[in-house]
Amino acid sequence: MKLTLKIWRQENANAKGKMVTYPIDGVEGDMSFLEMLDVLNEELINKGEEPVEFDHDCREGICGACSLQINGEPHGPDKLVTTCQLHMRSFKDGDTIVIEPFRAKAFPVVKDLIVDRGAFDRIQQAGGYVSVNTSGNTIDANSIPVNKHDADDSFAAATCIGCGACVAACKNASAMLFTSAKVSQYALLPQGQVEATERVQNMVRQMDLEGFGNCSNTGACEIECPKGISLENIARMNREYMSATSKG
Ligand code: SF4
Ligand code: FES
Repeated sequence: MKLTLKIWRQENANAKGKMVTYPIDGVEGDMSFLEMLDVLNEELINKGEEPVEFDHDCREGICGACSLQINGEPHGPDKLVTTCQLHMRSFKDGDTIVIEPFRAKAFPVVKDLIVDRGAFDRIQQAGGYVSVNTSGNTIDANSIPVNKHDADDSFAAATCIGCGACVAACKNASAMLFTSAKVSQYALLPQGQVEATERVQNMVRQMDLEGFGNCSNTGACEIECPKGISLENIARMNREYMSATSKG
């Protein structure tokens, strides 16, 4: 396949960025999207040009690092996949592909296609944990019965990989889907009840401090989420928040 890539280039966080056009040839359908960018970068390096910086780590849909806006969609046109799981067979010969970083005030561009998603780490640090009593009276977690439905919902929420596609998809750059997944995975389990009241308040407070917008109620986050995190989590977080704040 021959393709035309239009890629956002930005030297650093303070520089003015611009779209740069790169023709690329010999792209095979079985290549992943990131492998296609590797091929482009090899060509650029051989020509003595700066390669395009993009984030990646696991390349198997686990780490959430490969956050690219492809033709206006976070992680590109396929559903329930991350950018590293997207294959070039989803495009056709002659296509023009526009590649940008995730756009949100709370995700500042570091360089080219890399954004700083440290805001997610700080939300997680604000309450995304459970305390463990190590006084010698610790109850084995397996001895606490958990309703199967709750266990399944908690596990589903815990599959959030913190990629940020929900933020990039939302017209308000809201982080409600991410934060609600992190709140839900504990809210549904007995082990998460100890800090439940503070957790939801602290995580929502940090989410607001980071500059994310409120839920736009359009559901774009759920559609673009590579892990299928459900909007039900946002409803659950809202209930948790109401209940926590009414307790004072
Ligand atoms: S909720 Fe989905 S889109 Fe948002 S960070 Fe988690 S996995 Fe990514
Ligand atoms: S590189 Fe880890 S999810 Fe894509």
